[in-house]
Amino acid sequence: MLKNISKIVLSTALMVGYASVAQAEMSREDYAIKFRRGGYTVLGWYYGPLYRMAKGEMPYDKALFLRNADYLAVLSKLPKDGFIPGSGAGETKAKPEIWSKSDKFKEANDRLENESARLAELAKTGDLDAIKVQFGKVQKSCKACHDDFKNKAD
Ligand code: HEC
Repeated sequence: MLKNISKIVLSTALMVGYASVAQAEMSREDYAIKFRRGGYTVLGWYYGPLYRMAKGEMPYDKALFLRNADYLAVLSKLPKDGFIPGSGAGETKAKPEIWSKSDKFKEANDRLENESARLAELAKTGDLDAIKVQFGKVQKSCKACHDDFKNKAD
């Protein structure tokens, strides 16, 4: 019992320590940039197999598709939290329109979230034709936001 408690205390101390180290090393704005870019990287990782299965570049595996689509539905909600005010400069491809046209940016986020949620629903059915159509809608929601709000590779 005591051992367990000391474990909890220790791991909490480590977590708090880690968070303050990360924040001490960089500004909150830089940390936000790092967070959202990491978020998109993780999202892109799970999106990859969905893309390949939808495009026939990899055999369709219902269980894998469903798992990744479920992850995508959750991951699609995270990066938006990292676009905090003042985080438009630095190691980022974010366009200033994210903040000056925040309603449109919110719409683009909602679109990704809704299309991803729909994809996860459809993935349960295993109806590959319908899944492919819905995947196309997710793909378009990524592209639409990148066109409007992300700078191209420099
Ligand atoms: C609502 C807008 C929006 C949507 C929707 C969106 N993205 Fe992005 N994405 C961005 C922005 C803005 C950046 C640049 C972030 C930065 O550099 O601070 C980005 C960056 C990325 C990156 C590069 C991460 C890095 O810095 O290495 C990847 C990969 C990515 N997005 C994949 C996707 C995929 C895949 C989808 C769809 C499933 C998607 N994004 C949907 C806005 C969006």
